[in-house]
Amino acid sequence: MNILLLGSGGREHAIAWKLAQSKKLTNLFIAPGNAGTCKVGTNLPVSATDFPALKQAVLQHNVNMVVVGPEDPLVKGVADFFAADAELKHIPVIGPDKKGAQLEGSKDFSKKFMLRHNIPTARYLSVNAGNMEAGIDFLKTMKPPYVLKADGLAAGKGVLILNDYDEAVGELRNMLHGKFGAASATVVIEEFLSGIECSVFVLTDGTHYKILPEAKDYKRIGEGDKGLNTGGMGSVSPVPFCTPEFMEKIETRIIRPTIDGLRAEGICYKGFIFFGLIKVDNEPYVIEYNARMGDPETETVMLRLKSDLVDLLEGVAAGNLDEKQVEFDPRAAVAVMLVSGGYPEAYEKGKVITGLEQVTDSIVFHAGTALKDGQVVTSGGRVIAVSSYGKTREEARAKSFENAQKIQFDGKYCRRDIGFDL
Ligand code: AMP
Ligand code: GLY
Repeated sequence: MNILLLGSGGREHAIAWKLAQSKKLTNLFIAPGNAGTCKVGTNLPVSATDFPALKQAVLQHNVNMVVVGPEDPLVKGVADFFAADAELKHIPVIGPDKKGAQLEGSKDFSKKFMLRHNIPTARYLSVNAGNMEAGIDFLKTMKPPYVLKADGLAAGKGVLILNDYDEAVGELRNMLHGKFGAASATVVIEEFLSGIECSVFVLTDGTHYKILPEAKDYKRIGEGDKGLNTGGMGSVSPVPFCTPEFMEKIETRIIRPTIDGLRAEGICYKGFIFFGLIKVDNEPYVIEYNARMGDPETETVMLRLKSDLVDLLEGVAAGNLDEKQVEFDPRAAVAVMLVSGGYPEAYEKGKVITGLEQVTDSIVFHAGTALKDGQVVTSGGRVIAVSSYGKTREEARAKSFENAQKIQFDGKYCRRDIGFDL
């Protein structure tokens, strides 16, 4: 089987690493990939959203399956593009079509979907320029902090959490007047939920599903979860509060109604679903859906997935995922993200990375790297995820941190406290 994986981050390197371990794999291509993915497959200089170029690559390299890493190609309709093309329609795409990707691509859609299927989530109101006054009235009924979410994709920046009522009203106006462009033409105002978050992942063939190892990510730049939000500074798996009893609640109240709801609405969803959850008074609520795996959660989830990922993806494509087994590695895994100095604000790229070959007993997943004149250089804010196994979470964290020290680039920063709150 020849597989084309779309994307270029740490998530994609982790998926590529896992796919490459399968006996079922012949050739792995990554479009566009990074300086890590080219160690486990062949990078193609094609953007993940350039569909005609992807078609050419798929035909040229006899690709038998396309696996989509990030949300952008999904929301832009890569699965629909393949399904509508006579030369491509027999090639399965792992990832939902445009309609299914609305679970992530439109907060308004996902909130309405949850309401229709009785899936626990925060109380909300969707507003646009036409009913802004209703939005202001709704805010009046709520207690701070106030949660405002751009309906559409806003590169992870579209959620504002504000402590002051006047500021919330002002930001609601700003958002409706284009703060996040078209993405905030509709704004979801949400009740604030207070609790601890976790990420639960499911693979589905549209009818059956398999639950993958759960994880928790650490979004803030600073230790102790202080400072600005980032794309994610590290992750752990398993999550101790995701006990069998709590997972049972998640499955019966959230996962099953979601899969059944998609099917009932005629959405043929084949791919990963990421449930961003929060535990409030021992009950799970959905904060958000994503139509893909999480990053940096994938960098620990893939370590803990023992089963053959290609075999599972074949089950997704064929619709017989129920016949497959998912086995978890009992060990703990922790990923520590090395980021560029200044991130998540302005930072420089092109810094030479050294010491990668000195890493022992950890797995180095490249996130924002490139090859330049034979050297590995930084090419993004999040640069490298160092992932390790341990008998305990603390052992895994210590190993990742120790190896993180061996990798050098100008301005490197990482958090030492991944998993501190568990
Ligand atoms: P999102 O982009 O939807 O993942 O939101 C970003 C972050 O905002 C989440 O990971 C939560 O920490 C926080 N958040 C979003 N919605 C809520 C809510 N209703 N209550 C509390 N925190 C929230
Ligand atoms: N780690 C959160 C995300 O991938 O959206």
